[in-house]
Amino acid sequence: MDNDFILEFKNVTKQFPGVLALKDVSFDIRRGEIHGICGENGAGKSTLMKILSGVYPHGTYEGRVIFDGEELNLGESSIREAGEKGIAIVYQELTLVPTMSVGENVYLGREPLDGQAINWNKLYADTKKILSNYELDVPPHEIVRNLGVGKMQMVEIAKALSENAKVLILDEPTSALSEAEVEKLMDILKTLKAHGITCIYITHRLEEFFRITDRVTVMRDGKAVVTEATENLSVEKLVRHMVGREMKERFPKGNRKPAEVVFDVKDLQALDPNDSNRKVLNGVNFDVRRGEILGIAGLMGSGRTELVMTLFGEYGKVINGKIKLGDKEIKPRSAREAIDAGLSLVPEDRKGMGLVLIQSILKNISLPNLDQFAGLFRIDVDAELKASMQQAKSLTIKTPSLEALVETLSGGNQQKVVISKWLLSTPIVLIMDDPTRGVDVGAKYEIYKLMNDLAEKGVAIIMISSELEEVLGMSDRVMVMCRGHSAATLSMQEANEERIMSLATGIAS
Ligand SMILES: Nc1ncnc2c1ncn2[C@@H]1O[C@H](COP(=O)(O)OP(=O)(O)OP(=O)(O)O)[C@@H](O)[C@H]1O
Ligand SMILES: [Mg+2]
Repeated sequence: MDNDFILEFKNVTKQFPGVLALKDVSFDIRRGEIHGICGENGAGKSTLMKILSGVYPHGTYEGRVIFDGEELNLGESSIREAGEKGIAIVYQELTLVPTMSVGENVYLGREPLDGQAINWNKLYADTKKILSNYELDVPPHEIVRNLGVGKMQMVEIAKALSENAKVLILDEPTSALSEAEVEKLMDILKTLKAHGITCIYITHRLEEFFRITDRVTVMRDGKAVVTEATENLSVEKLVRHMVGREMKERFPKGNRKPAEVVFDVKDLQALDPNDSNRKVLNGVNFDVRRGEILGIAGLMGSGRTELVMTLFGEYGKVINGKIKLGDKEIKPRSAREAIDAGLSLVPEDRKGMGLVLIQSILKNISLPNLDQFAGLFRIDVDAELKASMQQAKSLTIKTPSLEALVETLSGGNQQKVVISKWLLSTPIVLIMDDPTRGVDVGAKYEIYKLMNDLAEKGVAIIMISSELEEVLGMSDRVMVMCRGHSAATLSMQEANEERIMSLATGIAS
């Protein structure tokens, strides 16, 4: 028996009602390596990981998984069992209890006991040991709510490692992280590797595979199509395996012709609604033209999302400034008023604001657009169905039917539903807050094409993005935010990564 492998998938097949999520998947993971898995939205990555972590126990799939030389045979309380065996997972969405401390979260449900009572000293001492062992920089007593996303993720990792993990699975760990936090995570993974822990790493940011992994497996339509040493791969090769064809360019060429200014924001200042001593916006100036894409760049916490929410009347208390839409000044006091005036938003938080998870895809897409379909006496179901079908098709939402519930979709496909929903309407100004987060390369391209189409029809688009490549690839101009104010607006001749970063960090002004 070959002891080089900690995990071997042998002909693993998983069927959901109407969806064959995994088809005959076979590949191996070497002891101590960092193994990347990539694939388009819905390719089956998370499903395969859920088999390892016990969400889908033995008997709910076909084929075999060999873990450390023995068949993985997880039964009833399988998630617990997987953890005890040494398989730990950090999910796409965080799972911490915000009101509890770091230590309480790490040992939740497994608190060390002293007789009947919880041994708090041991709990915090053990937490501290794990944190310092793996160089995770978080205070054990801090309440989780007070931590940023990056630190919360470290707590998730500490929790996963608290059971002597042999294999750690990270399913899209960086989709909500800033560049500095990603850097820190890469360091953490190197430390784990030095301790002999095997990592499985899933991401849609393809460059990350080249920073950290030893080998990568590409999945397509539920199949593992290739496993290869990272040094023999390139972004182009990965993309070709993922989508099954050549993709020459990542950003479609549009034929945008920016015209007159339709949206103009002057010296906007606003207070934190919960703390009137804190200014969240401190002098924001920009304008957008009809048919233009204005990119907004800035670090996490620079006020980009606060700006959007304030424009929609849903966040900051405006104390100064003017917002003009066309020649009219507007003062939206709610999202409803903003939408009525002609603004539209693809929000950042897909779970919180964008989707009704327990409704069908069809209902979610057509929800904000019902008046388009309202006939004289009844909603025209055929028109609704047709428009939603077209939208789902152009973004390749992977689903057996539009009647499927959104909660059964893969993470990236949920994001596509949010976008479809807003692209069906034709606003004067469309604001997109990190529109391609968690979305695969093929679908990103489709989203960019739709943005071009809308701009060519005369919609003014504001695109907030954390990916500089995307900002540079898709914008006509770039506004850079730094600590609540607009540092500068750059033309594409002036804009490059260094210039944007120095403005965003406040080094240049
Ligand atoms: N509980 C479920 N019920 C029905 N179908 C499901 C369920 N979970 C996943 N699926 C389907 O199985 C397929 C694979 O989904 P999975 O979540 O594994 O994709 P993924 O590769 O992780 O995608 P993403 O990159 O978007 O996260 C998708 O078509 C998805 O809709
Ligand atoms: Mg997934």
